[in-house]
Amino acid sequence: MPFMTELLPDGARVFVAGHRGLVGSAVVRRLTAEGHPVLVRTRAELDLRDAAATAAWLRQTRPDAVVLAAARVGGIMANSTYPVQFLEDNLRIQLSVVAGAHAAGVPRLLFLGSSCIYPKFAPQPIREDALLTGPLEPTNEAYALAKIAGIVQVQSYRRQYGAAYVSAMPTNLYGPGDNFDLATSHVLPALIRRFDEAERSGAPEVTLWGSGTPRREFLHVDDLAAACTLLLRSYDADEPVNVGCGEDLTIRELAETVSGVVGYRGRIGWDTAKPDGTPRKLLDVSRLFALGWRPRIALRDGVAQVHRQWRAQAAGDAAGSAPDPGAEPTAAAH
Ligand SMILES: NC(=O)c1ccc[n+]([C@@H]2O[C@H](COP(=O)([O-])OP(=O)(O)OC[C@H]3O[C@@H](n4cnc5c(N)ncnc54)[C@H](OP(=O)(O)O)[C@@H]3O)[C@@H](O)[C@H]2O)c1
Repeated sequence: MPFMTELLPDGARVFVAGHRGLVGSAVVRRLTAEGHPVLVRTRAELDLRDAAATAAWLRQTRPDAVVLAAARVGGIMANSTYPVQFLEDNLRIQLSVVAGAHAAGVPRLLFLGSSCIYPKFAPQPIREDALLTGPLEPTNEAYALAKIAGIVQVQSYRRQYGAAYVSAMPTNLYGPGDNFDLATSHVLPALIRRFDEAERSGAPEVTLWGSGTPRREFLHVDDLAAACTLLLRSYDADEPVNVGCGEDLTIRELAETVSGVVGYRGRIGWDTAKPDGTPRKLLDVSRLFALGWRPRIALRDGVAQVHRQWRAQAAGDAAGSAPDPGAEPTAAAH
């Protein structure tokens, strides 16, 4: 297909910024499987906040495309404790990488936004044009504003220079390389760890925050990576593109799925004195579906895979640190 070849030629060399992260590592796996040479740099080798060093490296290597999956990412606690770093690190990374790529003549770039940068009360399912139409979730406002600046930066390079730079807006992700630290993890890996530990210790009940009624959407990161390469090959327009599975479920259903996969036989309790968060967060994925993409990994299969990963990690962790009871998983997934 000539149009697709023009946007991301076969064998194009792609720089994946943030290749050790949940998203970046999945994108590297996918690009490699599709036959693309991938360029990477660890943070120690190249701090992407350093604009001069990043520009020099991009000038020297001149990749055919860049996927910007490097970011300072964290949960509610980290976001509210370090808003300065969440704002400034992300702004600096974006400025370095997007401006550096353009200066080096890199023709193609995909920026990763996030569903959590849409307005707190956006109509559901959330369409891409809901961006900038209302107040943000206050707990991650600094992070969201930085990421919104990245979306506008990408659009500005398109408008002013005609650059084929685009943005994707992924929903809550999970998958290989997930973070199981209960103080900082997202809801899904936290549930896997808690049910697994309860099953192994024979605990009669696992108590979770809230009522279990909020609805959330979850996508396996390998499905996101497939969407990223599709967008690189075939999407070239101003508007960001939502990436989600198009279906949500309640946190209660999620907990039941995870406990079933893990084989936990005790009760699931709900501490309704704890906050619930937004009642629903689901992306409208019609734009991406119109490009022919569909998610491939069923939630139960993905949870089973991540559970196996957690078991391997827990078995290899001689210290076996106990979960922090003050850091119960909530529905406030990023
Ligand atoms: N995870 C989700 O559920 C989710 C959902 C929607 C959108 N997203 C978006 O996807 C992107 C990636 O998220 P993620 O979950 O993959 O995050 P992650 O696992 O924390 O990975 C982020 C990566 O960025 C790198 N990085 C951070 N600061 C850097 C710097 N100054 N210089 C060089 N590298 C730096 C990190 O390097 P180190 O390994 O050295 O720390 C890490 O490899 C973000 O833009 C996020 O908003 C994620």
